[in-house]
Amino acid sequence: MVNIMSREYELKPAPSPQGSNLGSNEGKTINRRQFLRYGFNTATGVLAASLGVLGFSAILLPPGGGASGDLGVVFWAKGREDEAWYGAKHEQPMTRTDFVDEAAKSSTGTAGAAGIWNGVPVIVTYVDHTKYAGTPEFNGKARFQFMEGYDETGKRIGHFEDLSDSDPRIFPSDNLVMIFGRCTHLCCIPGWQLVSNSYTDDSWTPGGGDGGGTKLFCICHSSRFDPTALEMNSNRNRSSGATFNYAGIRRSGGPAPVGLPLIPVQLNGDLIEGITDYIDWYTYCD
Ligand code: FES
Repeated sequence: MVNIMSREYELKPAPSPQGSNLGSNEGKTINRRQFLRYGFNTATGVLAASLGVLGFSAILLPPGGGASGDLGVVFWAKGREDEAWYGAKHEQPMTRTDFVDEAAKSSTGTAGAAGIWNGVPVIVTYVDHTKYAGTPEFNGKARFQFMEGYDETGKRIGHFEDLSDSDPRIFPSDNLVMIFGRCTHLCCIPGWQLVSNSYTDDSWTPGGGDGGGTKLFCICHSSRFDPTALEMNSNRNRSSGATFNYAGIRRSGGPAPVGLPLIPVQLNGDLIEGITDYIDWYTYCD
């Protein structure tokens, strides 16, 4: 098994895009049907190259994972079966109850897990927002924060609620958010408590900054993202170069230029499902 613990504070220089084996995607486009059917396959080679070359094979995902047309999310704990709280649930459907139970053990009222939705890597995070939104922020109990967002040049793009007002499904559902698991830096797979450090601690501070823990952490070059800080952001389609705005979580530190996009969720009974209406938001990687 890869010893990722030893890498926790290694701020590695970012490889150049030319030298990163990320490959090219010239002429490739993706539509809703293709996404449903081939969601993960389109990324498999890139994952193998970008993560394999860095030695993180323990978290590689299987080719073609996810059933065609299945909107449900499954846990993914490969290589971390003994460490992750959901290790015994590897490849089992994610339920909201799983997260509620785990969050009850947390001092911040949060729980997160890696998963696969339609074959693509995701991170689902539960925040006990309903319980703590009306309590003082300095009590360390996490809640969602709805914020102004900025593009990679620092220009204000708009507010999260500009997007959620036009489609309320973008708003966290039942205290859950699902995040597309490809880093906006060079497309590695960030995770929930993949490593143990101050960024991933069970602690929380408000404001979407780099203080506190409960961050999603990208082990490739140590980018950090706050899953409680929801904002509007902007990125670029890798194939066409077209820019788009999206609802996402805030980048709090590291070389990633912008935050990670949300995949809106809905509950089917207790099962967590993703909504496929915003696949343009996930087109910044090959
Ligand atoms: S790929 Fe470089 S920090 Fe995530």
